[in-house]
Amino acid sequence: MKIKLDERKVKSLYVHIPFCEHICFYCDFVKTIKPKDPKTIDKYLNLLDEELKSYNDKLDNLQTIYIGGGTPSCLNAKQTEKMCKILQRYCKKDLVEYTIELNPESITKENLEIYKKYNINRLSIGVQTFDNDLLKKIGRIHDNSQAIEKYLLAREVGFDNISIDLMYNLFNQTKENVENDLKMIEKLKPDHISWYSLIMKENSVWGRRKLQLPENDELFDEVVNEGLTKLGYIRYEISNYQINGKASKHNISYWDNSLFVGVGVGATGFETIDGSYFLTVNKGSALEYTKEYEKLSLKDYYFQIIMMGLRMVEGIDLTDYINRNVFDHFKPVIEQNVEKGFLVIENDRLKCSKRGFDIMNEILIDFLD
Ligand SMILES: C[S@@+](CC[C@H](N)C(=O)[O-])C[C@H]1O[C@@H](n2cnc3c(N)ncnc32)[C@H](O)[C@@H]1O
Ligand code: SF4
Repeated sequence: MKIKLDERKVKSLYVHIPFCEHICFYCDFVKTIKPKDPKTIDKYLNLLDEELKSYNDKLDNLQTIYIGGGTPSCLNAKQTEKMCKILQRYCKKDLVEYTIELNPESITKENLEIYKKYNINRLSIGVQTFDNDLLKKIGRIHDNSQAIEKYLLAREVGFDNISIDLMYNLFNQTKENVENDLKMIEKLKPDHISWYSLIMKENSVWGRRKLQLPENDELFDEVVNEGLTKLGYIRYEISNYQINGKASKHNISYWDNSLFVGVGVGATGFETIDGSYFLTVNKGSALEYTKEYEKLSLKDYYFQIIMMGLRMVEGIDLTDYINRNVFDHFKPVIEQNVEKGFLVIENDRLKCSKRGFDIMNEILIDFLD
């Protein structure tokens, strides 16, 4: 049966809070130093409210909400309550995962209790590394004792789904540093880990200073992957690991071709309008931004499905009607890569082999030709 595109519902909502108490040297996300005047944050929250309302009933079937940043935890209790109240309207019966991103230094018991009261059921804490010297070098303002203390506080308040963000391939980072991070994970047992390899972003403080990345990325990837596997974590995407079935449903919606809406400055989305697919991005400043729409050609849309889907260890579901069309469209390239041993088709899924996973960017170039 042919699926009518507009029948597909928006499953996920991303909400961007762009304020940060400091700027980390590696970061090029859309952010701004937290304004001194609390009214500015209030105005931003009002803009979010208006933007959400402009979607009318399109957000009635959300399964996941993700409040990210920037630093959502830098809002004070009053602002946090206001943000949660605005979002409460979109927490309906289908909502299963509701995440907020937190920085260790700004986590407070009061805010944790507000998150709980409004049914936020997943926390993502930006730890980055447990090594204090490295934390200073990358421009963070928390230390490892704060990260541990706040993590335990969140457990005490009753959060049973906590993810931590870490990074590897940081300057001067040694194999021992990464092994120490693994030891901390063994002690703390977070439910989910996003462990990113540092990317040198042109628009970050380091990028502007033209710093070059160290080239031991693959070595670290192996230490991280083997270490987490030994601890019982399951890799389900290039940089994401889960234990006890706590994969992030929100993140999966970015990779499995689901529709999602992004609100707030810098937020991106993937929407359908009148049967066509659009990537959206909110451009401007915290107090004045507008949504820009980029219409995807069928070719671009199919490429996006491949690019995002191959990030997942389980790859792309070939029983899905749209994915089947994607497969037919790229059949010769897929077959070449299967022959080379970079892609495999198994149980109606198209995915990267172990070797293919390591060289995914090279494989993707074949799909662009
Ligand atoms: C946009 S940040 C926001 C979260 C929060 N403000 C924090 O700093 O923890 C989300 C995550 O992206 C990762 N990240 C940011 N910049 C990166 C970069 N240049 N390379 C790799 N990972 C990066 C970090 O691990 C960070 O926790
Ligand atoms: S990494 Fe997080 S805290 Fe640091 S500047 Fe980026 S968004 Fe802000």
